[in-house]
Amino acid sequence: MVNRKSQSTFRMLGVGSGSGEVDLSMISHLRKLFPSIQNVAVEPTTDLMDKYRSLFRVKQHLLEGVETEWREQTLEGFKNTVGYSVSYHFISAIHSLYYVDDYRASLRYLYDMLEDGGVMLIIVVSDDSGFWRLRKKFSYLEGSHMKFINSEHVRKALDDMGVKYQSLRQRSRVVATECFKADSEVGNLVLDFLIHVIHFRRTAPPKLQKEVLDYLETSDCCDPRDENGEILFNNDWEAIILQKAIN
Ligand SMILES: C[S@@+](CC[C@H](N)C(=O)[O-])C[C@H]1O[C@@H](n2cnc3c(N)ncnc32)[C@H](O)[C@@H]1O
Repeated sequence: MVNRKSQSTFRMLGVGSGSGEVDLSMISHLRKLFPSIQNVAVEPTTDLMDKYRSLFRVKQHLLEGVETEWREQTLEGFKNTVGYSVSYHFISAIHSLYYVDDYRASLRYLYDMLEDGGVMLIIVVSDDSGFWRLRKKFSYLEGSHMKFINSEHVRKALDDMGVKYQSLRQRSRVVATECFKADSEVGNLVLDFLIHVIHFRRTAPPKLQKEVLDYLETSDCCDPRDENGEILFNNDWEAIILQKAIN
């Protein structure tokens, strides 16, 4: 990916890094390959950025040689302020492209910011997942900040850009059993997460709640109850990985 001898510093960019657990896990692996890393974290939510900073401090002893620039802004804000002035050896956007204004323009921008030979990792929900089918069926409930995209959209955008990629579908399950118990605090939080509506049980009309829960239990969204009586929600996701050609 990058010739270590000719690169003094490995530059990486995280888009929508959240509280940083996933990014720091990747950094801890990359550190073994690259002694000096300049990490840029783009995250607009103050609370999450603070958590990322704290986690970084806690793990500081494991992150020798890693410097992080904290950019508390959206990708759009980052583009407006930083533009194309820096290029990166590794860019990741993990479950964050749903929130950008225009995922196609964002993919183009991120690709343009890759160094030749640099690698980009995009993770989004699979087009063949319970998450996607639930979102599609109840798309009118989505918050306006949330775009309606899945792995097929990303692959199509990259195809249109003429960019080659590899795609890896990953099986993932969320225990949804508690969602079907009206008085379960955990179940209500999981339900909010799955349907992407805060306090869904408290605010949605009973008819809509029933409709959502009935659909949630179908094979479109969940596996049949397992031997322990648990209902597992299909949260399959896809990792799309590309490397920019070396000219
Ligand atoms: C589902 S979380 C994923 C967090 C992290 N990447 C992870 O996998 O744990 C999506 C993140 O994207 C951030 N986000 C929202 N709008 C964004 C935007 N326009 N540009 C960049 N990040 C954004 C959110 O604040 C949130 O932290």
